[in-house]
Amino acid sequence: MTDNRNILVTSALPYANGPIHLGHLVEYIQTDIWARFQRLRDNTCYYVCADDAHGTPIMLRARQDGITPEQLIAAVQKEHEADFADFLIGFDNYYSTHSEENREFASSIYLKLRDEGHIRTKTIKQAYDPEAEMFLPDRFIKGSCPKCGAEDQYGDNCEVCGATYDPTELKNPVSAVSGATPVEKDSEQYFFKLSDFSDMLQQWLKEGHVQSEVANKLGEWFEEGLQDWDISRNAPYWGFEIPDAPGKYFYVWMDAPMGYMASFKNLCDKQGINFDDYWAADSKNELYHFIGKDIARFHTLFWPAVLDGAGYRKPTGVFCHGFLTVNGQKMSKSRGTFIKARTYLEHLNPEYLRYYYTAKLSSGVDDIDLNLEDFMQRVNSDLVGKVVNIASRCAGFISKKFGGQLSAELPEAGLYSEMVTAGEVIAQHFENREYNKAVREIMAQADKANVYIDENKPWILIKEEGRADEVQQICSQGLNMFRLLMTWLKPILPATAEKSEAFLNTELLWSNIEQPLLSHAINKFKPLLTRIEKEQIEAMTHDSLETQMATEKPALSGPLADDPIAAEISFDDFAKIDLRIAKIVKAEHVKGADKLLQLTLDLGGDTRNVFAGIKSAYKPQDLEGKLTVMVANLAPRKMRFGLSEGMVLAAGPGGKELFILHPEDGAQPGMKVK
Ligand code: MSP
Ligand code: ZN
Repeated sequence: MTDNRNILVTSALPYANGPIHLGHLVEYIQTDIWARFQRLRDNTCYYVCADDAHGTPIMLRARQDGITPEQLIAAVQKEHEADFADFLIGFDNYYSTHSEENREFASSIYLKLRDEGHIRTKTIKQAYDPEAEMFLPDRFIKGSCPKCGAEDQYGDNCEVCGATYDPTELKNPVSAVSGATPVEKDSEQYFFKLSDFSDMLQQWLKEGHVQSEVANKLGEWFEEGLQDWDISRNAPYWGFEIPDAPGKYFYVWMDAPMGYMASFKNLCDKQGINFDDYWAADSKNELYHFIGKDIARFHTLFWPAVLDGAGYRKPTGVFCHGFLTVNGQKMSKSRGTFIKARTYLEHLNPEYLRYYYTAKLSSGVDDIDLNLEDFMQRVNSDLVGKVVNIASRCAGFISKKFGGQLSAELPEAGLYSEMVTAGEVIAQHFENREYNKAVREIMAQADKANVYIDENKPWILIKEEGRADEVQQICSQGLNMFRLLMTWLKPILPATAEKSEAFLNTELLWSNIEQPLLSHAINKFKPLLTRIEKEQIEAMTHDSLETQMATEKPALSGPLADDPIAAEISFDDFAKIDLRIAKIVKAEHVKGADKLLQLTLDLGGDTRNVFAGIKSAYKPQDLEGKLTVMVANLAPRKMRFGLSEGMVLAAGPGGKELFILHPEDGAQPGMKVK
């Protein structure tokens, strides 16, 4: 087992404008387990990742939040790193695509491609927002579907009928940035000539670097002929400027995969690793990218071609996984199944999810389902009921009756070595990313160990005269089997493995398991994992419902934090609210009320009496004659002081800082607010 491979693995770089959710975690958990497994097998394995910090959505999100893109990506990265750490994802380095290293890779790779003749320019027509003065990505144009007429569809596909089309085909298109009607505008763009690499890619795909399902799918692209790839975007854009093209920026997907190199380079500089050993064209070291099936094309066509064109090595393997569904359906905010990593952590142990995903993951691209009921049962019966149970059944006797000392020999050495042999099968499953098979095999071995203890009944023997030695041997056999199970589970359950190491007083290593622990002192047993209770799952789902809108925004911390936003309402609900401009004709104190002012509002003829809780912020005389916005169709409410016939809109943290919304000049009482 001393093959001593040198491996570099990556997971896809999450976008720096949203929180990590349980869908993302399929990938980070899958990769982390593989990296930990490789290290346990005495291979060198580096695992690097980064935030994907460029692109239009990040630029607009920052603008919307009134902060700079730098502030946004720093705040989000902090959250991502905390989420990953708490899910025990053991990156060797976590970096950002908005880094100096990445800027250098982006420029030098681009210049190399240009000098080799793989870049050409072409003037193309693109949708342009004349109000926001920017070109619009497809996702930022909305309109009616050209096929079925459904309103409010994105520029690239219809969520109602599933049609895909060009944004120019949309009916009544509007810019999602400003609401203006987009116009077509010419501009010169930079293209990467992917077609130059057609033969190379077809050869590379034949060599088995990607799963067969993915390779088959890519076959379709070759049949149609590879299209050149637009790698530039016009200012304003958040990214790296193209070195020889002022005002043009690299498209986010151009510099994103280079983030793998940048993160690794940063690690190399910190730890004195030789970068070229892993990335030079003739490198013999292994490079693997773990990704979701939605981004396969970027990693199996564009990326290997860019690497090849720039004189670097290509990946040894690109491993695609499927998408997560929860309870059989797409994750949904309204069902409480769009679960953020942080929300999960507030209720449940990360190792439960790591185990469940492992039990479901194969090497294929099938979607995996997190069925919350099955999740609870599976964790409780396998981890708590089978694995941890072995240790808790045996540990007490060894500590109390035998001074914590294991026996000098095993009563069933054959059973032990049979299990050790099974370990090689388990290792093959991990290596091949057939995690579900690995878990099935580990649990089959756990069943064997439990049967052994059930049959030998140490709890009965201990009461019989003169059979103490047997009890010590049976329990030592049990604990040695537990040690094997925990060694195999160590990549999946690193924290429980660490606690088991403290308990067994040994480091769990794959390389020394042939040798059982004999005449060995163990430590006191402490509970390793507890059962999942139904209430924990319910609370997590409940919290995911409550924070549903907040997941749309980056959950910033500190001074940038937002209040949680209330549950979503439909557009129809919103349309029911009749907002009107009202003139405050009279404002007076209310006797006996310490928060309320009584307002007489003029709606352009119609007069309303409204009680508003704004006394701490405004003097009555300051309000008279002012215009404000009111909800005109709120059902009248009987209050202690009289009837309130509507509601005035105000915002702010409260107290003196409560602001009536002053409509702009030119508003007239009674006007509808849109
Ligand atoms: N930023 C790009 C990746 C650039 S890699 C050079 C991106 N980011 S992402 O945040 O949208 O997704 C990150 C990874 O998580 C992707 O591999 C994606 O497939 C995966 N997943 C995101 N949602 C997922 C599920 N619901 N289920 C499983 N994986 C999912 O794409
Ligand atoms: Zn449609």
